[in-house]
Amino acid sequence: MSSYKEQIDKARLPQHIAIIMDGNGRWAKKLGNQRIFGHQNGVTSVREATEAAAELGVKFLTLYAFSTENWNRPKEEVSALMALLVKTIEDETPTLAKNNVKLITIGDTSRMPAETAKRLQQCIDQTAHNTGLCLVLALSYSSRWEITEAVKNMVQDSIDQKLHIEEIDENTISNYLTTKQIPDPELLIRTSGEYRISNFLLWQIAYTELYFTDVLWPDFKKEDLYQAIVNYQSRERRFGKTSEQVTQ
Ligand code: FPP
Repeated sequence: MSSYKEQIDKARLPQHIAIIMDGNGRWAKKLGNQRIFGHQNGVTSVREATEAAAELGVKFLTLYAFSTENWNRPKEEVSALMALLVKTIEDETPTLAKNNVKLITIGDTSRMPAETAKRLQQCIDQTAHNTGLCLVLALSYSSRWEITEAVKNMVQDSIDQKLHIEEIDENTISNYLTTKQIPDPELLIRTSGEYRISNFLLWQIAYTELYFTDVLWPDFKKEDLYQAIVNYQSRERRFGKTSEQVTQ
């Protein structure tokens, strides 16, 4: 069987892929282990997806690493996950730097312990000048949080006379979101057989192709990413137009 990688049309790569990494807990449970064991093994898949995206020449990879709702998990899981996230990011930063990968985060990092946020910022600063793949980690992120913040900032700017109602269009709103520097994803992948968006990039995925796979996140390998891209490339993106209009 030929590899999915060979079937990828390099000229029609999605420039932004977003992933809801799901199934770590179930993966660990299947093996009779604690949930954190699943998160630890999920790190390998983060590496696989990042490497594969960078090698192909994808411009942005956004990973949903910790949602606003994840703060409600048992205290021990939250602190173990925070520790794992920061340690992994610190350990991987030299490799990211070497491979020209730029790391940024979206989300409410003010909710993170101060020391964690500081360490994270140091890693971000170290890769700030890189020009290859931009790895976007959604940390303490939720779309409704992001939209609420955007509305608050727009109202404030309107009060301050910096924003005028008649000027507001879709671009204005996009520019008040945390993703203002990032194009909308063309492809969103969710692992583990769940068919939900879970408060992720709700505004940004208006025309995104959705891809769901039963593979649990710790089992997700490069070949799974290639398969998702091949599937994406087989689809016709119409943006509300007719098939005839887009194929002419
Ligand atoms: C969802 O699985 C996964 C998470 C909430 C955390 C993802 C974090 C990692 C993969 C760790 C490393 C990440 C980076 C970016 C360094 P789940 O716990 O909801 O699984 P379940 O649905 O089976 O319970």
